[in-house]
Amino acid sequence: MRKPRKAGGGSQRHGEQPSPDTGPGSPSQASPYHLFGDADEVTRFRASLLSWYDQAKRDLPWRRRAAGELDPDRRAYSVWVSEIMLQQTQVATVIGYYTRWMQKWPALQDLAGASLEEVNQLWAGLGYYSRGRRLQEGARKVVEELGGHVPRTAAMLQKLLPGVGRYTAGAIASIAFGQVTGVVDGNVTRVLCRVRAIGADPGSPMVTQHLWSLAQHLVDPARPGDFNQAAMELGATVCTPRGPLCPECPVRGFCQAQKRVEKEQTAASGRLLGSPEQEKMLEVEECAPRRAGSCPLCLSPSEPWRQDLGVANFPRQPARKAPREQRAAVCVLQQPGPETGRFLLVQRPSSGLLAGLWEFPSVPAEGTEYVQRRALVKALQTWVGGPLPLRSLRCLGEVVHVFSHIRQTYVVYSLALKEQPQGLPPSGARWVSQAEFQEAAVSTAMKKVLRLFEGQPSGHRKASKSPQDPATLGPGPGPSHQHRQLTLNAFFKPTSAS
Ligand code: ADE
Repeated sequence: MRKPRKAGGGSQRHGEQPSPDTGPGSPSQASPYHLFGDADEVTRFRASLLSWYDQAKRDLPWRRRAAGELDPDRRAYSVWVSEIMLQQTQVATVIGYYTRWMQKWPALQDLAGASLEEVNQLWAGLGYYSRGRRLQEGARKVVEELGGHVPRTAAMLQKLLPGVGRYTAGAIASIAFGQVTGVVDGNVTRVLCRVRAIGADPGSPMVTQHLWSLAQHLVDPARPGDFNQAAMELGATVCTPRGPLCPECPVRGFCQAQKRVEKEQTAASGRLLGSPEQEKMLEVEECAPRRAGSCPLCLSPSEPWRQDLGVANFPRQPARKAPREQRAAVCVLQQPGPETGRFLLVQRPSSGLLAGLWEFPSVPAEGTEYVQRRALVKALQTWVGGPLPLRSLRCLGEVVHVFSHIRQTYVVYSLALKEQPQGLPPSGARWVSQAEFQEAAVSTAMKKVLRLFEGQPSGHRKASKSPQDPATLGPGPGPSHQHRQLTLNAFFKPTSAS
């Protein structure tokens, strides 16, 4: 599956923290080259962008809903949900989730009455699960503490609602309430960096501040919500990270990056310069401080212009931090039964990564395979409350899943019980059928684990060929009951886990 392009065009909303409009990135101090100087240019820019948006905008469920909703709180809620879902996730993926969400919880009051389990269940597969949790907490806050009314300004939205940062607050306030406030997300960052040839690190406080100032300066007072969405739409569909469609761009004539491309092409073809008039003209179109080597918003001199990138020389791509590597041994523990029997799922803690989600039991994969197997069996025994045979654990392979900042490898095992367990599983554990698993609040990573499991020949899953496989290692240091075939009479009776 193609990796989704983030709706925000980046891994995070830029400048979700407040920042005052002063300092080196503020309009007063920046070179005119990186600003929109005269009012006429701003007016023409707005008109070009908005008339393009009016005829090119995608028909998206949240736009329809917001446009047709007369009640301001319901309208704000419909925008709020979409903006939270669109953080980190591609529009095409969000559409289905948004539609299901709004069917289940059409108003804030409905969401306020939902449980975290239900929210996680609906959110399953969308990733970054804390977003759903915070949305629900926010709905509760509005209903229980704010009289059912969503705060009307960006400042109050950001202050009062959990999970609502500077971008989301500005988006809700402008789209739902018509507040004249600009917004900067990943798409807008790209558009503005190109239009004003901003080559310095877009994540730096100075550039962030400059971009927010530009967005505030540009936003159309008559149609702030549409203007903000138009800028995002342009970034998502035309001014894309790679392969931008410049010939189709409604604001091409305002684009400093485009001018720079043309200049570099002319220079590369050896046709440039000669007359002092030409030189003078180019100087005017350039950033004066850059010529002096001192512009904090320009591409750094240490990063040479790349002809092959064209306008995509802007914005500068900051070096990505490599995700942290983590390994876990995970087990699909299966009851006997028709078809594939039921699986044991355990619930994650109610805070932290993937809070409250259900998953196959796992342990950190540390040490040799033998050590991992022992640790895994020991953990399984605590869940099922009885001895399990180390030998029955089959290694199926590995699954890799990248969470926001973690590259997680799961070493996948299966263990097929020979008899039905007796008694109820302890709190925080449950047995689910295949169908229940698909509907449960489980992460995409666990769905990948199940797919690997399902790819194995049913009932005859091959033992690992690894020389460290306990089947070839002999009894090892573990207690002898680990090598007995499992009897389940005492299965859920409490036992001291070995
Ligand atoms: N990305 C996030 N919110 C958006 C919106 N309202 N329109 C277009 N793209 C978006």
